[in-house]
Amino acid sequence: MPHLPESVDPAWLTPGAFRAIGSRRTLVRGGEGPVVDSVHEEVAEACARFGGHVERDASPGPYDLLLDLTGDDGSEAFTFTRDDGRTTVTASGRPGLLYGLFHVVRLGEDAFRGEARRETHRPALGLRMLDHWDNVAVHPVMGQVERGYAGGSLFWEDGRARGNLERVRAYGRLLASCGINAVAVNNVNVHRAEARLLTDRIGEVAAIACALRAYGIRTHLSVSFAAPVVLGGLATADPLEGGVRAWWAEATARVYEAIPDFGGYVVKADSEGQPGPFAYGRSHAEGANMLAGALEPYGGTVHWRAFVYDHRQDWRDRTTDRARAAYDHFVPLDGEFASNAVLQVKHGPMDFQVREPVSPLIGAMPATRLAVELQATQEYTGQQRHVCWLGPMWSEVLRFRPDGTPVAELADALVAVSNVGDDRFWTGHPLAQANLYTFGRLAWRPDADPLEILDEWIGLTFGTEPAAGVRTVMEGSWRTYEKYTAPLGVGFMVQPGHHYGPSVDGYEYSPWGTYHFADRDGIGVDRSAATGTGYAAQYAKPWAEVYESPETCPDELLLFFHHVPYGHVLHSGRTVIQHIYDTHFEGVEEVEAARRVWASLVGLVDAERHARVTERFEEQLRCAREWRDQINSYFFRKSGVPDAHGRRIH
Ligand code: GCU
Repeated sequence: MPHLPESVDPAWLTPGAFRAIGSRRTLVRGGEGPVVDSVHEEVAEACARFGGHVERDASPGPYDLLLDLTGDDGSEAFTFTRDDGRTTVTASGRPGLLYGLFHVVRLGEDAFRGEARRETHRPALGLRMLDHWDNVAVHPVMGQVERGYAGGSLFWEDGRARGNLERVRAYGRLLASCGINAVAVNNVNVHRAEARLLTDRIGEVAAIACALRAYGIRTHLSVSFAAPVVLGGLATADPLEGGVRAWWAEATARVYEAIPDFGGYVVKADSEGQPGPFAYGRSHAEGANMLAGALEPYGGTVHWRAFVYDHRQDWRDRTTDRARAAYDHFVPLDGEFASNAVLQVKHGPMDFQVREPVSPLIGAMPATRLAVELQATQEYTGQQRHVCWLGPMWSEVLRFRPDGTPVAELADALVAVSNVGDDRFWTGHPLAQANLYTFGRLAWRPDADPLEILDEWIGLTFGTEPAAGVRTVMEGSWRTYEKYTAPLGVGFMVQPGHHYGPSVDGYEYSPWGTYHFADRDGIGVDRSAATGTGYAAQYAKPWAEVYESPETCPDELLLFFHHVPYGHVLHSGRTVIQHIYDTHFEGVEEVEAARRVWASLVGLVDAERHARVTERFEEQLRCAREWRDQINSYFFRKSGVPDAHGRRIH
């Protein structure tokens, strides 16, 4: 088990979480290798603390818990049985044994109570992955971790892989305990130093992979499509050139020499300035398939991102709609991608706003493998200074049925941009750990009730006493954040560049293409097929029809799909302008209330954790008031409509 300095927060794997296991007699039977060693070490450590006893491969004496590995098929499934006063976890693959162990940890005493239970658990999605937007070098504008709000990188320090990888091992352990099985260790924007991780610096990646392997986690790498040029000195990166293909084949062979269980490549191509196949007149399928071909002999996968849009558009041009871009680029390519190429699609059509419709690309390419990408790092949701538990939003996405089948069943993989750094609390805001945990658990079981996952996390992290209070602070925090920021799905209104805090017109005349079109009469983007950009027609029925008309469009997405007068009456019965005022006052009041509840937990929560959250609440409240006042003043000045309740608007 990794040994960390006392100052590093144990997150949800607190010593207390192992009390039930640590006070029992356990037998670990079958198998060898780093993952089984980890299982044994976990139990041994818990027993050393709580007085229990563990044996490995001994002839069975009396025991309370049997962790039984019966095969070596790599399966992640396990069976949990409670019978005759004994608890048994059986797995036919090493990862299954590890997940079974953490299942017992989560159950605590409940794992050792009752009779006659037999359940089989297996993950709904085979790949449950975190993408780190970590740079090896500190980037002059973005810092070390792009959109990172939790300090520096866990993996990279002083321009190279960390010498001491205990923290990385501990990270792998946290991830395994919530079911995550893959990590990409560098930013999708691949800068110069990072490009070389693929070639002469692969040894550093191998060291990280080794630390993560002990917890069943495979390592992936973001690569530059231009690598043959920038690293190999070739004149072209044209995916159809024999020399280019040979270069990738050879580079990939060397990667697998260093990391035999390497997961594959992540590629951001022709997106926000990254190189890609368009430069050579080739399609994205041709680009992806070239890399898929190099990975294929080793069982690797290329994750090809669908985040392709024009970031140099003219705001005067009303026909270009960034929301349409991914669908327009990729749907014509359905059926052309190799079987080990996975198209990685952001869950919404824009960019991880607090409220977006589900991307119409999801479900529109039945002959293409799909990874759905979420953002655990809170780029647009308070940057880990605000409490914003994203479980309900992700659950809505995964349950959405684009064409009858839920998103979770259409996807082969679920990916999240990681929210973790070298901060002592891992995620900056201690309560943001819940987003990491919830992501892993939802990827394992997308139809789980997110509130049950939250309770599970709270129970492990805080124990029972403060649990109700912590839940009150967190359960509605996403909707609270939505209330005091951009209204009714219109999105953005953030400060350009760093994306923190309000700027209503920050992106209104911007080449990045995110607008709200507010004038004295109304607000919103007409994306209907009849009179707008036609985006609504990218959906299958019934959604194309539901979104097409303001009468049927859900309130929370109204301004994403329609431009309406301020006096338009929502399904809620309120006008749009009154909704804006009300939600912004309410949002701030909810933050004030949550802050009071948190304050009341002093003494019930570890002092350092309590202090860190308290400090973040000060900033959240300041920022929420700023949002409220800027948004309300802006729309009062535009519309001239007073607040029905006469509250103070500046
Ligand atoms: C957003 C984010 C960028 C990131 C990009 C991506 O635009 O602001 O920092 O690189 O998404 O997902 O590639």
